[in-house]
Amino acid sequence: MELNINNRTVFCHDNLEVLRGINTACIDLIYLDPPFNKKKTFTAPIGSSAEGASFCDIFREKDIKEEWLMDIKEDQPSIHSFLSAVKDIEGKQSYNFCYLAYMAIRLMECHRVLKNTGSLYLHCDPTMSHYLKLVLDCVFGEKNFRNEIVWCYYGPGSPNMRQFNRKHDIVFFYSKGYKWTFNKDFIRLEYKPSTIARGNYDSKSSSTGSGFRDIEKGKIPETWWTGMRTGGQMSKKERTGYPTQKPLALLERIIKASSLEGGIVLDPFCGCATTCVAAEKLGRQWIGIDVSIKAYDLVKDRLGKEVEGKGTLFYNNLVSFSTDPPKRTDQGVNYLPQKYVYIISNPKHKGYYKVGIAANIKSRLGSYQTGDPERKYKLEYSFLTPNFRQIEAYIHQKYDNSFEWVKGTLEDIKNDIEGFDGSQSG
Ligand SMILES: C[S@@+](CC[C@H](N)C(=O)[O-])C[C@H]1O[C@@H](n2cnc3c(N)ncnc32)[C@H](O)[C@@H]1O
Repeated sequence: MELNINNRTVFCHDNLEVLRGINTACIDLIYLDPPFNKKKTFTAPIGSSAEGASFCDIFREKDIKEEWLMDIKEDQPSIHSFLSAVKDIEGKQSYNFCYLAYMAIRLMECHRVLKNTGSLYLHCDPTMSHYLKLVLDCVFGEKNFRNEIVWCYYGPGSPNMRQFNRKHDIVFFYSKGYKWTFNKDFIRLEYKPSTIARGNYDSKSSSTGSGFRDIEKGKIPETWWTGMRTGGQMSKKERTGYPTQKPLALLERIIKASSLEGGIVLDPFCGCATTCVAAEKLGRQWIGIDVSIKAYDLVKDRLGKEVEGKGTLFYNNLVSFSTDPPKRTDQGVNYLPQKYVYIISNPKHKGYYKVGIAANIKSRLGSYQTGDPERKYKLEYSFLTPNFRQIEAYIHQKYDNSFEWVKGTLEDIKNDIEGFDGSQSG
């Protein structure tokens, strides 16, 4: 499938909307380094080139949409059951549940946009890695789980005297299908005779009788990665000060292993553009997405400085910047995705109506009914439209509401839905 985005584009937008605008099956490699659910805000130090950049790593009910849960329920019922179990375990304080809902809906889109031969690397840490593995197993299929990579780092931190100090991240590697790219010869570690005994060379006996084939080409890395400088140990040139910046060496290994020259690399949480810079250096096409405007400034700055001879790229306008999500072109020329805006009532919520979006209205009503022993939900009205998101947002903004239940009369809400012509938004 043809990609509907130019090479070297940075989107400054919520990645879910951007992912939803990308054609199906056109990306070779996705690396994502999302917030880890650390329940704090990360801020770049004053005086660094990333000064002003920050992102919030706390997920609450207000940060997730019921529409996502419904989509998850329709498309990935096992994940929905898993999320419900997480919510039961957590009780009222549902940070993990909210975080996982936010991740699941995005991982489902990532899976859709990958080529059948594509791969995804999800960077996380033990805060949520064991939960995310289950979500990934559902989205990609357990059989497509390739590796759990442990990235070990070192450096200062407040030492904990009552337990082992945490100094590793987790990177999950999944392929979309049974055929995937793995360029073992591009990622071999330097050959050192003293390390032969530590194995992981191609193991077939060679004609020289050494017991290893291609031994002098070097060793294929194992699933624990070390020696990649991070934080304050990065060179001055590499360090931007962007909170949670990852080492270029890490991205270079992933990109070399799992894509070919000219291939398309996507990073939906690109931060200070580490993936974009690594992809550019290695001759891959790339797309970066980040809600923070700082990403665009940093990609300009970093590419100019770090990629030899590429400083002029920007002056020639080769890097595009967009604050609008792309529009898919793989659904026919005049295709506009349409969904229902619905109004549902329940006598328990007198004077309130649930206004939401659904692709399949019958199944949406069914999913409400299964959560209500009295099965009193009633579909009052539905309206099929390409403007479903704007209309839903408009109704929720116009009427007093509490988590999709809006206060008003059925007649008024219906009239506002049907009368929406775009002039009401913004
Ligand atoms: C852990 S950082 C990524 C760091 C990056 N790998 C690097 O090396 O600089 C996570 C990034 O995700 C971005 N982010 C968080 N939620 C987002 C969303 N919904 N859409 C797009 N970007 C998002 C934040 O602004 C932040 O820059």
